[in-house]
Amino acid sequence: MSLMKLLVVNGPNINMLGIREPEVYGNGTYIDLCNLVDNYCREKDIEVEFFQSNHEGDIIDIIQNAHDNFDGIIINPAAYTHTSIAILDALKAVDIPTVEVHISDVSKREDYRQVSFIRDYCKKSIMGFGFKGYLMAVDYFVELVKK
Ligand code: DQA
Repeated sequence: MSLMKLLVVNGPNINMLGIREPEVYGNGTYIDLCNLVDNYCREKDIEVEFFQSNHEGDIIDIIQNAHDNFDGIIINPAAYTHTSIAILDALKAVDIPTVEVHISDVSKREDYRQVSFIRDYCKKSIMGFGFKGYLMAVDYFVELVKK
C-alpha cells in the first residue's frame, strides 16, 4: 500500500509550458513537470495522478470526483485562481487537504493577480519556486502524514 494518493490539478494554459512566456514560466514543458512530480512521488511511495484542463467546469468535475479517492490535492488553477469562486466551492465541498501552487511569484506581478479565491481555504500557498513548488507541496503532505 502506498503512503497516500495525491491529485495534481493544473488550470488553463499550463499545457503551454515551454512555449508560453519562458521568461516567466521557464523552458520546461507540462510533460516535464508531470515527470518531475511523478518521479518524486515514486521515491516517496506516493501514488499521484495528474489532470490539466483549460475549462473551469472540467476542473470542478475532477475535484468533485476526487471525493473519497484522494488524500490531498495540489492545485495550480492558473488564471482561474483570480476569478473562480466555483473552484473554491468545489474544494470546500470535497474537503480534501489542498495546497495552492504557482510557478511564478504572483505576489510580485500585476494587480489582477493579487486575488486568490482559494488561498484562505488552502493549507499552504507556494509561489515563485518554478516547478520545484510542486515538489514542496508534495513535501507538505509527507510532513502532514508524519504528524
Ligand atoms: C500561474 C499564475 C497565474 O496568474 C497565471 O494566470 C497562470 C499561471 C503560475 O503558475 O504562476 O496561468 O498560476
